[in-house]
Amino acid sequence: MTPTRISIVIATGNLHKVGEIQSILGTRVECRSLRDFPAAPAPVEDAETFAGNAAIKAISLSRWLIENRRESEWPLYVLADDSGLEVRTLAWAPGVHSARFFALDDGRVGNASDGENNAKLIRLLATVPAEQRQARFRCVLAWTPVMAAPAGEDSARWLQVQTRHFEGRCEGRIAERGSGASGFGYDPLFVPDGFDLSFAELGVEAKNRISHRARALAHLNTDISREATNR
Ligand code: IMP
Repeated sequence: MTPTRISIVIATGNLHKVGEIQSILGTRVECRSLRDFPAAPAPVEDAETFAGNAAIKAISLSRWLIENRRESEWPLYVLADDSGLEVRTLAWAPGVHSARFFALDDGRVGNASDGENNAKLIRLLATVPAEQRQARFRCVLAWTPVMAAPAGEDSARWLQVQTRHFEGRCEGRIAERGSGASGFGYDPLFVPDGFDLSFAELGVEAKNRISHRARALAHLNTDISREATNR
């Protein structure tokens, strides 16, 4: 018997993230993304942790689906990814501010471009020697059911309790200059431990075997398998 596919919506419009997540979760999960629900509002990601921001994104989308879509259209789960780069010599910055790292300097609202963020990182580390350029990527996933709260329960609080988190890390170092054309964000500058090439040079397949996102998704996959067995 063919197992039923689990339908999920990934709370991101970043097609790189969607592609990585879809290819790691494989065919038993049917993924849609925010691109399929352009009317869904973008919540303010103002938590100071990856887990907090991932939960904000997942719970906001789950509530919006419940309130704005027919039950027959609801996916089983919303999956949100919050991730970023932490650099040891910068006291683990940019962290949750990774997407707007450069924009923090000029007070601009919203994210900076990947080019601007990478240029800032190269500049800040210009005089830092090779042995002090340790960094890591972290990814925290929030996995929230799309399910109406029982009568009398506060919907946001109830979904918060139902939300599960999965974390993955990838250790490495920051190169002196960017290289490679694959991936996104800080990929051209990040060289994972055990390699001499950046994520952007290694390519998507190699990255998806060792990345922070792949490791977080491996924990989620274990959980999905357990749930499918118990169904
Ligand atoms: P988020 O979309 O709010 O989670 O922002 C994540 C930011 O962290 C991205 O815009 C990138 O700058 C960075 N980032 C997260 N994961 C990766 C990755 O796999 N490669 C490169 N940069 C990443």
